[in-house]
Amino acid sequence: MCKTGTDIQEAVTYLLQGDIVAIPTETVYGLAGDATRSESVIRIYEAKERPSFNPLIVHIASVDEASKYTVHIPPILLRLASTFWPGPFTILAEKNTLIADPVTAGSPLVALRVPVHPMALELLHSLPFPLAAPSANLFGRISPTTAQHVAEQLQDRIPYILDGGPCSVGVESTIVKCNAEGEIVLLREGAITAAMIREITGKEPLQPDAARIEAPGMLKSHYAPIIPVRIGKLQEMAAEYDPTRIACLQFEGKVPIIPNARYTGILSPRGDLHEAAARLFALMHEAEASGADFLLAEAVPDTGIGRAINDRLHRASA
Ligand code: TXA
Ligand code: MG
Repeated sequence: MCKTGTDIQEAVTYLLQGDIVAIPTETVYGLAGDATRSESVIRIYEAKERPSFNPLIVHIASVDEASKYTVHIPPILLRLASTFWPGPFTILAEKNTLIADPVTAGSPLVALRVPVHPMALELLHSLPFPLAAPSANLFGRISPTTAQHVAEQLQDRIPYILDGGPCSVGVESTIVKCNAEGEIVLLREGAITAAMIREITGKEPLQPDAARIEAPGMLKSHYAPIIPVRIGKLQEMAAEYDPTRIACLQFEGKVPIIPNARYTGILSPRGDLHEAAARLFALMHEAEASGADFLLAEAVPDTGIGRAINDRLHRASA
């Protein structure tokens, strides 16, 4: 059993020792360790049971720190980072030798981001090193958006969970890289949308080559809950099941569309996509815990952060 608390100094003490701790960010909770120390990074992979070919995001305290851990950052990425940091935005840049090799799983590129969660920022400013931190879930499971979610999956494996309350964004950061032609490639959808990137660069970011897995987290089944997930019209899908066996995830409205379902989670009663994103993983955790055998989900409007929500739903259903 690990301890959960709000003591940043306690987290600092563990991290200085080379231990790993769960930390809040605005997107999802991260499982953090010293990104310059291989043994700490390996502990992260072990605790998550994450395959060692899937690299980790490195969290830094400020835009200025990015150059400390990289050989080169394409100017266009630096411009985007300066615009969206601190915030739910991650760039790939060529790493230098300070970043421990296991962090990038053999890639010359490191993923960098400055989180905006005040506790995460205070923690990063208190440490002499950056923090490698993937989402604090077991490999292939739903990302945690509360300290309680982390405890459910990892409490026997880590000494401390820094509790920063429920995550305000709720879906993982947008990840971009710059290709050989100097164009921006969107590797993972998040709260920083393609339209927001276009505002800065003047060009629509490219979608990743579907034939290649560019970020290993793009593995289709990356966000799967334990029960099978289907996406479609709730009424049509529900007709095929015993209602007491199904959990439903509905986008909006005050009343359940399937009144006798075992569980209904309404992402945002008033139909707000940001609220829906913030609640998505928590409701998926509840659906899983309800004892239902199937999760039926409605897609949300495919605009803005809705694209990231639909992306996570489709991965969960793969
Ligand atoms: O919002 C977030 O990004 C959260 C919080 C904790 O910051 N972190 C997160 O980490 O979602 P994780 O490990 O669950 O997802 C990181 C993604 C993975 O898909 C991984 O493959 C990709 O980033 N990634 C990391 N480093 C990479 C690299 N060097 N090259 C390509 N993809 C990389
Ligand atoms: Mg993850």
